[in-house]
Amino acid sequence: MRAVTINTLQAHKAAGDKFAVITSYDACFANVVEEAGIEVILVGDSLGMVLQGHDSTLPVSVSDMAYHTACVRRGCSKPLVVTDMPFGSYSSTDVAIANAVTLMQAGAQMIKVEGGAWLLDTILALTERSIPVCGHLGLTPQSVNSLGGYKVQGREPKQAQAIIDDAKQLEQAGASLLVLECVPADLAKKISQALSIPVIGIGAGADTDAQVLVLHDLLGLSSHTPKFVRNFMNGSDSIQQALSSYRDAVKSGEFPSAEHTFAG
Ligand code: KIV
Repeated sequence: MRAVTINTLQAHKAAGDKFAVITSYDACFANVVEEAGIEVILVGDSLGMVLQGHDSTLPVSVSDMAYHTACVRRGCSKPLVVTDMPFGSYSSTDVAIANAVTLMQAGAQMIKVEGGAWLLDTILALTERSIPVCGHLGLTPQSVNSLGGYKVQGREPKQAQAIIDDAKQLEQAGASLLVLECVPADLAKKISQALSIPVIGIGAGADTDAQVLVLHDLLGLSSHTPKFVRNFMNGSDSIQQALSSYRDAVKSGEFPSAEHTFAG
């Protein structure tokens, strides 16, 4: 695999070729992910739950994210590395610029922010400063207290329309990628078709341009396995083989299947 850039991912979308994304938080796993030919590594703030043992992502700091981003970049050179901006680190445009610079200098090649229309000015300001942005809509875990739990979003027509409108506005503001989490498959399909940027689904059905999973979930290491996760260690002899199976299953469209998908 050659080094992946945003142009590579755009070309995959244009050609209708799906690509795989996975979270990683350290050099060791980043290297295994690279060997498996997975195109994008997300240094997710899910590390607050997976590594640090918190019950949400809210306690994660910018320095936590910078530390793990630097570890990941030392372990790989080919996958595109996208880093989450943690809760509270983009509450205003100036704060967002300063924190995004810290993460880019730690090794991120793109940053991810959760939310819709309220972020448009921030996304514009970041992209104007050569900081590529990935949006995140649907279930946005940093908003767990406002959403009242980790629940499927966009089942009501009004809420679905709001997600569609937000997605189009994020693209217009300059976002290069969009993560859609826990939304009905037909809504994710509609958004993927409406946008020209690649849409990465998690619990969003098979019709997005790419899939992302939390590494520890797909290796069967998490105590609670969400409906949209498949344990790729089942039937694999090694972590390397599990990650290759994940990549192949995403590329062929075999994952996610109906059992991992939410209906409207
Ligand atoms: O933090 C994370 O790992 C994420 C994914 C679940 C998309 O945002």
